[in-house]
Amino acid sequence: MVIREFEGKQQASNYQKFRIDTSQEITDLIFSYLEERFPKPHGFAVDAGCGTGQNTRVIAPYFKKVLGIDISETQIEEARKATRSPNVTYSVCPAEEVQVGNTSVDLLTASIAAHYFTIEPFLKEVDRILKPGGCLAIFAYSPSIEVHYKDRSEQITQVFAEMEDHLVPYEHEMTQHLRNGYKEMYKSIPYPDKRRIENIVTKIRVPLSRLLGLIQTFPMFPIFLETKPEEAKEMIRTAEERFLRLMGTSSGETEVEVWLQNVLVLASKPQ
Ligand SMILES: C[S@@+](CC[C@H](N)C(=O)[O-])C[C@H]1O[C@@H](n2cnc3c(N)ncnc32)[C@H](O)[C@@H]1O
Repeated sequence: MVIREFEGKQQASNYQKFRIDTSQEITDLIFSYLEERFPKPHGFAVDAGCGTGQNTRVIAPYFKKVLGIDISETQIEEARKATRSPNVTYSVCPAEEVQVGNTSVDLLTASIAAHYFTIEPFLKEVDRILKPGGCLAIFAYSPSIEVHYKDRSEQITQVFAEMEDHLVPYEHEMTQHLRNGYKEMYKSIPYPDKRRIENIVTKIRVPLSRLLGLIQTFPMFPIFLETKPEEAKEMIRTAEERFLRLMGTSSGETEVEVWLQNVLVLASKPQ
């Protein structure tokens, strides 16, 4: 199933500019879990639903080879342009049918993507390609984002939440899995060694302009823009004015601190 939210060239280019890389906290949790179960050096990782490669590039230094896969050709095109690491390759293919050999993968990651996968065939595929002891790491941040700036955090977070409210009618039905903290995916994983960690808060400083870019990468935004172009542009314009007024600045380069609430599901295939 192609998800049209990720097909547009503008969306892929916004992704590359504005998306947030996997945080150090999440990376550390994944690698300490992997290293407790699976000896170094690590050979091969697959990053499923890699988009333009935000997580693929973060995990690349830990492995001999990394493959980023995505069903969107435009996302993969941008990922290739943005990646210099010689050990990374990309391929257009679904997470439910990864084109790699049986028991060949040490780690399979899915960053803000697993809620789009069809659970049963995806988990079957994970079981086919993971080495014994190999790990699965699924993670995402929830849509409830806090934005902090001096003593104006509450008001600024409210403006951001109002933008998100505008986007709710355009949300893909599969996003419910993310809103449920991947509980169904977690329950369906057939391995006894698994855990689901909620409420991992990561904080990142970004210029206000990037925050406004980030919301435009949310998959609902291109649909809103297509359906009600003037309303969508007006929402961004008005929010920017409100942010600047609240922050008492005229510069979109003024930094805010974004707090993300993450959920991480880890599992290891039995030895
Ligand atoms: C929200 S983006 C996340 C991109 C990136 N991993 C990140 O961390 O920002 C979700 C990505 O999953 C991809 N996707 C959706 N369903 C997929 C599937 N069944 N197999 C592979 N990729 C899929 C979309 O094309 C999109 O690029």
